[in-house]
Amino acid sequence: MQRTVIDRIDPVAEDVVSLVLRGADGPLARWEPGAHIDIALPNWLTRQYSLCGDPADRHSYRIAVRHDPLSRGGSGYVHLFLRRGRALDVSEPRNHFPLLPAPEYLFLAGGIGITAILPMLRAAVGAGSAATLVYAGRSLATMPFADELRRSYGDRVRLVATTDQGRPDLAVLAEGLDARALVYCCGPASMLAAAEAVFPAGRLHAERFRPVAKTFPPNTAFEVVCARSGQAVQVSPDESLLDALTHAGHPVPSGCREGVCGSCELAVLDGQPEHRDDIGAPAGRMYACVSRARSPRLVLNL
Ligand code: FES
Repeated sequence: MQRTVIDRIDPVAEDVVSLVLRGADGPLARWEPGAHIDIALPNWLTRQYSLCGDPADRHSYRIAVRHDPLSRGGSGYVHLFLRRGRALDVSEPRNHFPLLPAPEYLFLAGGIGITAILPMLRAAVGAGSAATLVYAGRSLATMPFADELRRSYGDRVRLVATTDQGRPDLAVLAEGLDARALVYCCGPASMLAAAEAVFPAGRLHAERFRPVAKTFPPNTAFEVVCARSGQAVQVSPDESLLDALTHAGHPVPSGCREGVCGSCELAVLDGQPEHRDDIGAPAGRMYACVSRARSPRLVLNL
């Protein structure tokens, strides 16, 4: 974890504040567009937020938080209780949504999803690529950083207030794209579904805040062996690998517990995991909050 102090809290849209977190012990860990951090809130919850500042700034991170009316204690706490000067521990940045090189980009952002996209747009423009951002929200007043984007990127940015203008027509946007262009999308499930219906999988890169509904075979019991201690842990059908490890004295960091944030990533040394996450686990890795095992036994680098 890295120690930070809240340097600024500013309203940036209806029900959205941005926070600038200054490193308390010198430079902060480097990051690239698409990265997020876990924040250990003082109410014992851990939440993930995309970094939306400047990766060249090694002394502070910027995030933005929308106050979710259905808050389970994260965004509500940030809005009601966090103030300038408060110390916060944050993880090193993780990136499951990296910006790949391309001559042209179409960025699609919905609401608070702009936080992941904003540094991507800056990087793409800085690299000399053609880049267009289509940014949708209910109204301009609800869209964080709309003024900053207009000021910085002019007509590369199209702001769409959906209450007045309706949702952007992605099929029309697709028609004007270079064949080598990549599409990056971060927003509500409806926007991701619309993008998936229009853009082929190899071209579309999307980040989800919520898992996609899917079905899996019934849970079965399996065994995991913690390679460093040699301890064997039984995982019953009605508990997660994350909980079984925690109960056995091997607490694993966690955040979303829904397979979207990556906090609970483990290295698998042997056996066959059954991946149930929405991130796309790299080879030899698995996410302990949702994933299970296809083989009767897994060996973990724990
Ligand atoms: S806790 Fe978020 S992916 Fe497991």
